[in-house]
Amino acid sequence: MHHRSLCLTIILLFSVNTTCLSKESGFLSFWMGVLRNPEQVGAIAPGSPFLAKEISKHIDTVGMQDSFEINQPVRILEAGGGCGALTADIEKRLAHIDKSYLLDVIEIDPDYCEVLVAKFSHNPNIHIHCADVSTWNPGYQYDVIISSLPFTSLPSDLVIRIVEQFKKLAKKEGFISYFEYILLADVKSAYLGVKELFVEEHPKKEFEKKVRILSDFRRDFGIESKHVLLNVMPAQIHHLKMY
Ligand SMILES: C[S@@+](CC[C@H](N)C(=O)[O-])C[C@H]1O[C@@H](n2cnc3c(N)ncnc32)[C@H](O)[C@@H]1O
Repeated sequence: MHHRSLCLTIILLFSVNTTCLSKESGFLSFWMGVLRNPEQVGAIAPGSPFLAKEISKHIDTVGMQDSFEINQPVRILEAGGGCGALTADIEKRLAHIDKSYLLDVIEIDPDYCEVLVAKFSHNPNIHIHCADVSTWNPGYQYDVIISSLPFTSLPSDLVIRIVEQFKKLAKKEGFISYFEYILLADVKSAYLGVKELFVEEHPKKEFEKKVRILSDFRRDFGIESKHVLLNVMPAQIHHLKMY
């Protein structure tokens, strides 16, 4: 094999979170979901351990905020659980904090939900909900929201509803972390610009509306953005803090 192809293969293998390929997760279930509903899944591979580490890092600081209620469990929301690649890392991270916790995992795809239930039913602190996060209303707020929702491939009105939902669901001083693929927005915008020349609708305008909603969200609450290159595809993680 050519040297460059070998390096690429090794990077890809490191970047794929192998928990999603294991037998108990339902072999190849992630890719079956991609084939079933590519727009809703919005990815070609589960998040890597590097992505999981960066996107869940604010769990470690929970409890340091003035607003934290001592007698309450730490509440975490994972939006878009998929087949649990990030959930497994979040669970490991939560095992190291010295507080009780509750992790709500929201996933819209019923087949992925089955995988999640099979993988995490051993842990009474993890609750799997097969639901659309834009209508999720648990009656309490979260210290940390971790989202791997594919915003760039979802319709803009849904993105607006989810952003508003996150604002409502996060506690004051709570964290919201989400990711997007590096350069994907630019490539998609250029492609839609060309497409607009041939169709009557305005797909580029619709797409740019979504990009604007997210950049306004970051302008208002963003605290940090980090690149994670070891992921299929390289991603940028945005961390926001509510006030
Ligand atoms: C990019 S995948 C990430 C999966 C997993 N967290 C990982 O990193 O491998 C996005 C997930 O979000 C789910 N999803 C999309 N829209 C959703 C919605 N409105 N509510 C809940 N989950 C949703 C998809 O079904 C998919 O499992």
